[in-house]
Amino acid sequence: MKKLEQLNKRAKIVSEALPYIMEFYDKVIVIKYGGSAMHDPELKKKLLHDVVLLKYVGMHPVIVHGGGPDINKRLRQKKIESIFLHGLRVTTKEVMQVVENVLGKKVNQEIVSLIKKQGGKAKGFYGKKGHVIKATKHWIKNSHGNYIDLGYTGSVHGIRFRFLHKWIKKGYIPVLSPIGIGRHGHTYNINADSAAAAVAEFLKADKLILLTDVPGVLGKRKRLISEINTDRIEKMIEQEDISGGMIPKVECCLHALKKGVKQVHILDGRVPHVLLLELFTDAGIGTMVVR
Ligand SMILES: Nc1ncnc2c1ncn2[C@@H]1O[C@H](COP(=O)(O)OP(=O)(O)OP(=O)(O)O)[C@@H](O)[C@H]1O
Ligand SMILES: [Mg+2]
Repeated sequence: MKKLEQLNKRAKIVSEALPYIMEFYDKVIVIKYGGSAMHDPELKKKLLHDVVLLKYVGMHPVIVHGGGPDINKRLRQKKIESIFLHGLRVTTKEVMQVVENVLGKKVNQEIVSLIKKQGGKAKGFYGKKGHVIKATKHWIKNSHGNYIDLGYTGSVHGIRFRFLHKWIKKGYIPVLSPIGIGRHGHTYNINADSAAAAVAEFLKADKLILLTDVPGVLGKRKRLISEINTDRIEKMIEQEDISGGMIPKVECCLHALKKGVKQVHILDGRVPHVLLLELFTDAGIGTMVVR
């Protein structure tokens, strides 16, 4: 009898998922999986299991991954200094080589193989192999209005979205490294949040989810801000309440919204089943970014 009760509970939960499944059925959901949230192998397995589930209920998840901590570790081993300006990595030629090896080879292939192990179809896109992200050199301005050279750090110039769509329609979950190719065949290191926002824009995604290693955007006394708009973001950056890797993250969220992505969230990738909580419940976890 107890067993039947338990099974009934499970049936109820599945049944209650219907409106959420209908809302995102046949819709593209871009998930940025941050390097900082990818530490725990068990959590990683759980998260990718849930991505496979999304695909099997008719949604189209697309993964863009980061890999900051892995890159830093490899650079430390090679005694190369990691330098960040405005939250972006300065990428010399030798740093770029490390980025390509760590992101393109290690991280990308690991995600692809974990998806496959859990019964999903995944296709890895990294660097020159199956090149999807078109890039140009990225420049930033300092407070005096002068341009700063970040080396092989790039911005997205375009996404080969038709090519990506073909794989999505064939039932694959695309897994993209944030490495772009320039006009002259150079590879560029792109902040993974910007790459994810561009992929969401070009694929006309309904949702962009940035998974990271904090509960969302945190305000004074580390309190979670559950909804944040352009004005508050600008103010928080100015007052340095948003710093480091959170700067490109919130800027990308605003860019994606401007370009027509319907919903944008920053969520804690360390929370078990965070994607299911966001997509199948009204829990309202993390930070929702609005214009
Ligand atoms: N106001 C803020 N709220 C939350 N986090 C903040 C804030 N300001 C700065 N941060 C920092 O931003 C970090 C998240 O960005 P970070 O680039 O380090 O991670 P990621 O984007 O998830 O990973 P990766 O860059 O490897 O893909 C947090 O760990 C935190 O230290
Ligand atoms: Mg980052």
